[in-house]
Amino acid sequence: MTQQNPAQARAKIEAMKRQFEQKRQIDSSLDGIKNKIGVYSGKGGVGKTTVAVNLSAALANSGYSVGILDVDIDCPNVVRAMKISEQPMLDENKKMIPAERFGVKVMSMAYFQENEDEATIWRGPMIHNAINQMLQSTNWGELDYLIVDLPPGTSDSPLTVMQTLTMDGFVVVTTPQELAKIDAKRSINMIKKLQVNVLGIVENMSGGIFGSGAGTEIANELNLDFLGSIQIRQDYQDTSKPASLLNNEILNEYEAIIQKSLVNL
Ligand SMILES: Nc1ncnc2c1ncn2[C@@H]1O[C@H](COP(=O)(O)OP(=O)(O)O)[C@@H](O)[C@H]1O
Ligand SMILES: [Mg+2]
Repeated sequence: MTQQNPAQARAKIEAMKRQFEQKRQIDSSLDGIKNKIGVYSGKGGVGKTTVAVNLSAALANSGYSVGILDVDIDCPNVVRAMKISEQPMLDENKKMIPAERFGVKVMSMAYFQENEDEATIWRGPMIHNAINQMLQSTNWGELDYLIVDLPPGTSDSPLTVMQTLTMDGFVVVTTPQELAKIDAKRSINMIKKLQVNVLGIVENMSGGIFGSGAGTEIANELNLDFLGSIQIRQDYQDTSKPASLLNNEILNEYEAIIQKSLVNL
């Protein structure tokens, strides 16, 4: 090993101090959050964001304090789904106060992306840094649940996010389509390998032309809980509110999933 000169040694100590300080700030930011729940899927377009948003809205509707964190780097859609147009405010310590809609506090990676093309050049260390930055500079206050909209698939992005932010459990979203089934299995195996707590499978867009049953099938095969089906419905085209707040049958679907997975964590 080569001997470090004093300047190098000092720089190293300073870097360690900064890292330690960042870790301390992140821990203190997340300190008031009881449960961090990742919503994950094998591929995009299966309704991951929709499920994250409606789970959050349904939890808030039941009186829980809830936040939603959008770290789907390539497709950060939560802000749009929650009808938020303003940037977060800063508190007296210069920490961001998430905007609140439908009783849910909302924070998104989208705030950090100047233009949409930028997303394509994000790599592991950048994702790691940006998420850490966001975590350390957000004032969530006290939360019963933080629902995290994760990047889909088995690429670097979801892995980096999972390694950066320790989750208490994951809800996996799939659809009745055959292809989605294969993707879901591959991705569930990935998160199982990370030794995280997979709470179970949700089948979204159930009952359409692709029928239903893929969710229970996957759950049985992989020895996981099946948390419930969410029907495919027109209501999702009304973007004025999360669909669970527009239609009581949808709210019931989400409440059933919450009862099965989140209430007794
Ligand atoms: N149960 C459902 N019924 C009808 N449309 C749905 C349902 N779930 C999601 N959608 C619609 O499907 C599209 C993709 O959903 P989204 O949540 O953005 O997927 P992802 O986050 O997985 O990419 C959106 O237009 C959404 O409104
Ligand atoms: Mg999405």
